[in-house]
Amino acid sequence: MPTQTAIVTGAGSGIGRACAHQLAAKGHAVVVADINEAAARSVVAEIVQAGGRATALQADVRHDAQRMVDAAVQTYGALDILVNNAGIFYPADFLTTPFEDWHRAVDVMFYGATKCSRAAAQQMVAQGGGGQIVNISSVNAFLGAPLSSHYNTAKGAIDQLTRCLAVELAPHRILVNGVAPGFVETPMAVVDGVNEHSTQDFKQFYVQRRRIPLARPAEPDEIATVVTFLAEGTATYLTGHTIVVDGGLTVTF
Ligand SMILES: NC(=O)c1ccc[n+]([C@@H]2O[C@H](COP(=O)([O-])OP(=O)(O)OC[C@H]3O[C@@H](n4cnc5c(N)ncnc54)[C@H](O)[C@@H]3O)[C@@H](O)[C@H]2O)c1
Repeated sequence: MPTQTAIVTGAGSGIGRACAHQLAAKGHAVVVADINEAAARSVVAEIVQAGGRATALQADVRHDAQRMVDAAVQTYGALDILVNNAGIFYPADFLTTPFEDWHRAVDVMFYGATKCSRAAAQQMVAQGGGGQIVNISSVNAFLGAPLSSHYNTAKGAIDQLTRCLAVELAPHRILVNGVAPGFVETPMAVVDGVNEHSTQDFKQFYVQRRRIPLARPAEPDEIATVVTFLAEGTATYLTGHTIVVDGGLTVTF
């Protein structure tokens, strides 16, 4: 497998960090892009320490899509892989949350992924075609949940973006797929200072009663393994689909 150049957004933490590590460990060059510059730099230091190639970029997916692509091309000569991972979660009551606040989740996750996908795909086409885009969705994309209409709507839209871009970019040999995690042990699981995986409710319902058949949240690496599989493009006939990686959560009822 030839080495490729990847951008991973939101790579300063959690799933994105694990994706950046796994791609670099496979020999690929990685632009570690994050709105949090210190976090991006720290992940790059870890990758370089492990013998990998990576460069840190402070970038907001809402505004800096082209700058990310330019950084990849200027540093490594091309762009082959985009992982749209950056995301945010905060509880938002549908009846009372000011619309600007509600919209922030859609702006970061859906429009951010859309803008990054467009800048990346334009570069891939300009290079002569070929490449892979992986969108990080969630099981929330196809489930309802309280205080989550902003987040779940954004994720549902990302899945539709995955399908539409897969069709539109196929003539350019660009594969577009998604990964929809269930519960993952990352800083995002901490809401209002409480890690939801450590609550009694979570342990009783999801673990002891095995509502999650594997009876635990995922580690970020367990999601990154699937992202890396899609990002490398070895599955040459797979496009337009979102793979659910949830320990069996959504096959139970
Ligand atoms: N943790 C979970 O349980 C879970 C489950 C399903 C899906 N996801 C999704 O996985 C992705 C990664 O989440 P995580 O759990 O690793 O969270 P995380 O909070 O650990 O990491 C998110 C990263 O995104 C960065 N970020 C936020 N806004 C940004 C912006 N505008 N531009 C650039 N970077 C930005 C943050 O600085 C952070 O480093 C998200 O899209 C999230 O919705 C997470």
